[in-house]
Amino acid sequence: MIQLKDGIYWVGAIDWNVRNFHGYVTYRGTTYNAYLVVDDKVALIDTVKEPFFPEMMRRIGEVTDPKDIKYLVSNHTEPDHSGSVAKFLEVARDAELIASERGKSGLRKYFGDLSCTTITEKPTVNLGARTLQFVATPMLHWPDSMVTYIPEENLLLSNDAFGQHLASSKRFDDEVDHAVVMQEASKYYANIVMPLWRVVLRALETLSSLEIDMIAPSHGIIWRNLPGEIVETYRRWAEGAASEKVVVVYDTMWGSTERVAKALVEGIASKGVEVQLHRLGETHNSDVIADILDARAVLVGSPTLNNGLFPTVASFLSYMKGLRPKKKLGAVFGSYGWGGGAKRAAEEELKVAGLELIESDLDFVFRPTGEELKKAAEFGRAVAKRVRDS
Ligand code: FEO
Repeated sequence: MIQLKDGIYWVGAIDWNVRNFHGYVTYRGTTYNAYLVVDDKVALIDTVKEPFFPEMMRRIGEVTDPKDIKYLVSNHTEPDHSGSVAKFLEVARDAELIASERGKSGLRKYFGDLSCTTITEKPTVNLGARTLQFVATPMLHWPDSMVTYIPEENLLLSNDAFGQHLASSKRFDDEVDHAVVMQEASKYYANIVMPLWRVVLRALETLSSLEIDMIAPSHGIIWRNLPGEIVETYRRWAEGAASEKVVVVYDTMWGSTERVAKALVEGIASKGVEVQLHRLGETHNSDVIADILDARAVLVGSPTLNNGLFPTVASFLSYMKGLRPKKKLGAVFGSYGWGGGAKRAAEEELKVAGLELIESDLDFVFRPTGEELKKAAEFGRAVAKRVRDS
């Protein structure tokens, strides 16, 4: 049994093998964290993805009889957390389900006409020595999202916020390699939370009035050692903080666009600015986005295929457009056989994604010449200078 605080238990499940989380590659698996608060009355905060229901029930059973649970709090309707709600209520027949207004309607869409109390009707629940306080955090990251705070313990059960897709036999941040935890937290932020930066800043403002010494998210490890660090890091990410770093992302048909990409990399690196190169198809979109989170500029290269974007580049730009990275510079390069078209299409996509476009003249016919590659390297040096100066 794993205790966060005296009488507060982790009763979630570990999904060691998941590698695709709605299109996001999860090399390290994930966890679905559910928490049991045992007091005069017992409350379960969130459930787990439906196939993991037996694992959650086994863990609950080590602490208490599930039939004795008085409250089931659903912080979020997405099925990785609510997937076992209906099954749980079949066992804990007297449990009162509590969710946000949007949570109630969402849960009913998934599970039928469940009885559900909303946090408008019941903003707090007294369990005995402890209180559950519910704080709506709409669009962090679904309209129904909320968090649960236990003031007597300075404990925030933050649902998706501050989570990481990281399966581990350990539950706390001081038990797992810090670099690994932060890498997964940043990938999670970049792929799930990034477009919601305004909401994040608002939520951080709301949460700043709470005393918090532990943050227990619904995925990955629990922040008992460095809760302040992850909150501050979220603030920096939401503000669009970036390093002196450029990401060059491309695909290539016959090697021409790749030559331009590598000339750009040489030019950028020659100025001492960090640069990372990704070939799409080799690196997954969700990994490229994670790398872009702290970059100042993104250079995108595509060959022209059928007067438009190469399919992998189109897929990446579509993905990035949805995530709208903040305060990034962008530029386009590529190659074509006769008519061209990819560069124009990529520039449009970058603008829609919210990047500040740097004009470029790096779209070359067939194979780039030595002079054209020198021009690309020079452009790389100019980008590096701009990144340095900004
Ligand atoms: Fe938005 Fe972890 O579900």
